[in-house]
This record gives sequence, structure tokens and C-alpha cells, in this order.
Amino acid sequence: MQGKHITLAVTGAIAAYKAIHLLRLFREAGAEVQVIGTEHSLHFVGRETWEALSGRPPLFGLWETPDPSKIPHIMLGQEVDLVVVAPATANMLAKAACGIADDLVSTVLLAATAPVLFAPCMNTAMWEHPATRRNVETLAARPGIHFVQCAEGKLACGTEGKGRLAEPPTIFEMAEFLLTPKRPERFRWLITAGATREYIDPVRFLSNGSSGLMGRSIADAAWRLGGEVTLVTGPVADTTPRPYPVHTVTSAAEMATAVNEQVPLCDILVMSAAVADHAPVKSVAKQKKAGGDISLTLHSTPDILTGTIPLMRPDALRVGFAAETEDLIKNARGKRERKKLDLIVANLVSMELDPLGSQTNRVTLITADAQEELPLMPKRELGTLLAVKIHDMAARKRSR
Ligand code: CTP
Repeated sequence: MQGKHITLAVTGAIAAYKAIHLLRLFREAGAEVQVIGTEHSLHFVGRETWEALSGRPPLFGLWETPDPSKIPHIMLGQEVDLVVVAPATANMLAKAACGIADDLVSTVLLAATAPVLFAPCMNTAMWEHPATRRNVETLAARPGIHFVQCAEGKLACGTEGKGRLAEPPTIFEMAEFLLTPKRPERFRWLITAGATREYIDPVRFLSNGSSGLMGRSIADAAWRLGGEVTLVTGPVADTTPRPYPVHTVTSAAEMATAVNEQVPLCDILVMSAAVADHAPVKSVAKQKKAGGDISLTLHSTPDILTGTIPLMRPDALRVGFAAETEDLIKNARGKRERKKLDLIVANLVSMELDPLGSQTNRVTLITADAQEELPLMPKRELGTLLAVKIHDMAARKRSR
């Protein structure tokens, strides 16, 4: 997003207020955004709001221009990296499908050579109307045109159904995807994330504080690169729908089954889940307080990574994580060799520093012949960096 130029076109739907959040997401990510809109959109959000949040005057008419030396509707559709129409009304979809250019937004859309992302928003009957269905189909078949599906739920008119504007983070995510250059190889990634839960009885379990953010960040970035991603995750608080298949499992044994099923087909395995090494025998009844101490017998869970060694193709790439309280490099190197990994991502943990549930992480990357220490960074950023490195390693391994 950093330094990218986006035209954000707002049309006349009540969800125009959600485009304010979208604009903020774009700006926070470092994009330059020119807001344009239909006259009708001004009934919902005023000029001043757009101007204050985008840092430049918004444009609503064909004769308004930020730069008199340029023709605005050409510049705004051709000299940008992406045009996002959010919310996109049924009327604007119809105009774009037919090539009508009778206001600034529709004229920009007709002139656009940059990719266009529509985020539709309307009443369910309008969304399901054969005319809208046909217009969406016509637009989606054109190269460079993309859609973020509208969501189901309560609508402004008081009814419930399909037609709600997708949430701003979902639109942002799709914009990020479109702005990321795709790699020529389309690898199949199998990524694990989060903690497993090992139940003691129906209400209590042993687990750890992993939020799943690291694995999810790698999965998101792999998807943006054009990968075919499957995520296997333990139960996590963030259940925002992802644009790729997600299998939620509970215990280490369930995670092992899910991974073993999928791993023979994958080109890249990234085991970032914090898997429990031991599990109690689950009692069917809730354990009662008996007034004294209790002891638990724990049996070993399967080592999932080790179990995948005979199941994977020899040219597939294997990546693991190592959480260590001491001798980080020595222990991680040992794990890399024992678990036959191409790369191990090592991080220190302690009582004071638990990167498992945190937003940031500081890791060292260890391969057979190199070691690279990375600075502390947000896990979202680290996920992107790791996905690119892992993709490149997989491409090199395959070409050997
Ligand atoms: N892992 C696994 N199955 C397990 C335990 C761990 O596949 N039962 C994977 C993790 O996802 C990680 C790597 O093995 O990619 C190393 O995990 P870690 O917890 O650091 O090490 P362990 O192998 O569990 O060894 P130890 O706890 O003794 O350090």
C-alpha cells in the first residue's frame, strides 16, 4: 500500500459512512487516496469529512479538477494503481456495465485502465433483480474488474438479507491483494496457526496463549502473492472470515489428522501452530473438587511435523517454528535437523516475553547454511516478509 495511488469512488448509499473507515485504512497503510463521488453521495457524507481524512479536496463533478493541466476523469482512472467503488449502488453498476458516462464516477469508470474493485451495496430485491445480476456478470467478465461480495444481514431499510456493504477491512484486504504483484509459481500452501486445546474434562483444558496471528499473517500474505492457501488453526479469538479455506481443529491429534490429510498435495508446509506436546486423558464427567491436590497423567501428543516427513514430496518446502527459553540457536538448529526442515523460524520466550499472544515478534531465520536475525516487528509485517522468503526458497528448491 505504501505510496500507492487509489481513487476511492463513493456513490449514494447510506453505507457511504463505512467508506470513511476504508479511507482511514488506506491512509494508515501509506496510500495516497483521491476521493471522488456522485452528487447523491453528498447526502450521506459531506465534502469536509473526505477532505479532512484524505488530505485533499474530494471531487464530485466532471468540471472539478485537482490539477488544471490534467483531465480529471482520465487521470483518476489511468494514473492510479487502483479504483475502488465503495459503496457501489445498483445504479452505478448498471451505468458501468453499459458504459454510460454521465457523471464523474461513471466517466472515470469508463476511462479506467487501472484495475477496478466494486463493493456493491443495495436492498436485497435490487441485488437479486435480474438486471443487477446481469450487470454484475457483465462487469465481472471484463478483465481488470473485481468484486468484493456484499454481505448478508440487517439492511438500512429495516429488512434482512444480502446487500450490505462488505466490512471495510474485507474491502481493504481485497485491495491489498490486487495491489500485490503475483508470483509466476502458484504454490499450494498448508499453514497451521494458533494453540491446540487438550481437554481434561468437558470444561477445562491445557493450552497456551498463541493467538494464531503469526500463522494467519503468513497465510494472508501467501494468498496475496497468488498462492493457493489452506489454513489449519486451533481455536482462536479472531474468527474474521478469510479469503481461503480455514479448518478449525481443537486438539493436537485433530490437527495431526487435518495436516496429514492435506500435506501430500502441498508445495509448502508452514507449521507455525503452538501444538501441545502433552495431553491428559479426557474425563467424561467434570472433575469435582475433592479438597486436596490433584495430579494429572499426561501422554505425549503426536509430533505433527515429524509425522509429515514421509508424506511430503521431496521437492516440497518444510518450514517450522522454534520457541526456546535458552540456547535459541543451538536448540533451533537441532530441531531443524531432527524435523528435516528447510527453514526454522526461531524466537526466544520467557516469563517476561511471550511472543505467542503478542502483536510483534523478533525472530532468527535458520537454514542449512545461513542464519539471519530480524528486528522486532509487527507480526503482520513479519508474515509478509516470511511469505516472500518462503515462496522464493520453494521456487529455488523446485528448480534444483
Ligand atoms: N510441533 C509439531 N507437533 C508437536 C509439537 C510441535 O508439529 N506436537 C511443531 C511446531 O509447530 C513447530 C515445531 O514443531 O513448528 C517446534 O515446536 P516447539 O514447540 O518449539 O518444539 P517441540 O518440538 O515441541 O520441542 P520442545 O517443546 O521440547 O522444545
